[in-house]
Amino acid sequence: MATERVLSELFRYTIEDPGPLHSGGCGHLWKAHDRLFGESVAIKTIRSDLTAQALRKVQASFATEAIVTARLSRKCQNIVPVRDLGRIDSVLYLVMDWIESGDGTSPDVSHLMGRASVASAKKILLQVCDAVSAAHADGIVHSAIAPWNIVYRKSTDAYLLADFGLVRVVESHLISTPSRSLLQGGRLAFLPAYARRDIGRVSYASDVFALAVTFWSLLDPQALRHEDCAPPVIRVMRDQVDAPPQVRAMIARFIDGHSKNDSVSDFMDYLYRIPVR
Ligand SMILES: Nc1ncnc2c1ncn2[C@@H]1O[C@H](COP(=O)(O)OP(=O)(O)O)[C@@H](O)[C@H]1O
Ligand SMILES: [Mg+2]
Repeated sequence: MATERVLSELFRYTIEDPGPLHSGGCGHLWKAHDRLFGESVAIKTIRSDLTAQALRKVQASFATEAIVTARLSRKCQNIVPVRDLGRIDSVLYLVMDWIESGDGTSPDVSHLMGRASVASAKKILLQVCDAVSAAHADGIVHSAIAPWNIVYRKSTDAYLLADFGLVRVVESHLISTPSRSLLQGGRLAFLPAYARRDIGRVSYASDVFALAVTFWSLLDPQALRHEDCAPPVIRVMRDQVDAPPQVRAMIARFIDGHSKNDSVSDFMDYLYRIPVR
């Protein structure tokens, strides 16, 4: 693969595995060794098979992703730290801390969908809320909050927000306008109806909507088929019990009752009220 050959020319980083560990809509994720610090790192690259026009667009949003994440991660420990941004030929790459989940599997929490207790969903979301608050304070809308973009770092027992690949910088211009194809599958469930129809309308409030769907999906994957309304009770699939009423109150408030003025601190007020045993 062309990207692999280009990456093999890097002096500071050595690719550890022969192929990418993950291939997403726009790029690949590789595990590598940082010769300078003697540590594992994750390197993200853009797909090499894009048309010239698509490549220019993706390169611009990729650089934004690196810059935004690097700066935010200095301010908030719940954002995956970005260490480097570079380019060889037409291949842009960004280098992050390698996030080790501790069990050798992908560190993202998508495997916890329908498997988390109320207590662990609350713990995860409180930490992610810190990350989203830091982003919003800097005028950044994440736009893709979902379990597959939240990673668990065992060494610090912390949940970190990853993948600022679809960020929108509000109050300046829209830097990345993701294509709808990136938003297919379960992803649409994390957007309020108006942003599903027009992704350009993502906002601080749509990130709050995504926080509510993320919480619910950790308890029950049924959340991905929500149709913008909470059922009479929210189930905790892991324990085969109904969630406390405060969980439904939160889901109903931020999904059925979604408002364009919703803020992360409103959401956190509801989150704090959820009892855990
Ligand atoms: N820094 C990291 N260290 C280890 N694994 C990571 C890291 N960042 C992301 N991953 C894993 O790779 C997956 C894809 O990364 P992500 O940044 O979300 O890219 P994409 O834009 O393709 O969705 C994540 O869901 C996670 O499992
Ligand atoms: Mg992702």
